[in-house]
Amino acid sequence: MRRSSKSRLTPKQLSHFPSDTLFDKIARAVCRAGVLPAKELFEAWEVARRVRRKYRGGRIVDLAGGHGLLAHLMLVLDDRSPEAFVVDTALPPSARALAAVMVDTWPRLQGRIHLVAAAIEAFEVTPDDLVVSVHACGTLTDRVIDKAVQAGARLAVLPCCHDLKLSDTGGLEGWIAGPLAIDVVRAARLADNGYTVMTRTIPADITPHNRLLLAHPRKMMP
Ligand SMILES: C[S@@+](CC[C@H](N)C(=O)[O-])C[C@H]1O[C@@H](n2cnc3c(N)ncnc32)[C@H](O)[C@@H]1O
Repeated sequence: MRRSSKSRLTPKQLSHFPSDTLFDKIARAVCRAGVLPAKELFEAWEVARRVRRKYRGGRIVDLAGGHGLLAHLMLVLDDRSPEAFVVDTALPPSARALAAVMVDTWPRLQGRIHLVAAAIEAFEVTPDDLVVSVHACGTLTDRVIDKAVQAGARLAVLPCCHDLKLSDTGGLEGWIAGPLAIDVVRAARLADNGYTVMTRTIPADITPHNRLLLAHPRKMMP
């Protein structure tokens, strides 16, 4: 199966994920939900496992969370997080369908995942939160970063759709590609704000928008 596939996973694809691994169990749940493209499964999984290698616990705040799979995976991978919020102005119908199947598969998630139809600006982030955001388009990623920094919260973003006119390239686009310049400036801005920055990528065969930026306040243990 192509991991970048935009075709929906449905019960017909269950046979692709036969093993006892956690990933296959998650994939089978996504197939049963029948609402998500394959790419979203692989993307959320690769982000969640990298973030959890560094950041444990904390209330999960998935900003511009869309279908919300990432929020669910963050709790599946670390039960120390008490709850997760998926915040999105236009929660897609897939969010409820997916949440129902995930809770059915992991009953311990019952009542711990909250789908919030709101702009990220309206959601209060606290210092103990772990803010995550996958593919918040263009300057929305900048606003996600700002929200985490204002609260002093840990952060993990996978940016996309870089806006060369509106986001800060730091004048670096003469040396490096504009989208990379924007992400470099984002990392530098986090460091200027007292954050320790870690840079990762997820496999490029899933998405070309694969730079993962993790950051936590320097005074805080990761
Ligand atoms: C490209 S989608 C990414 C969704 C999801 N994170 C994913 O990985 O599939 C961007 C999402 O941002 C949401 N969005 C746009 N502006 C927003 C805002 N100001 N506050 C919250 N969500 C917003 C959209 O409704 C959309 O679901």
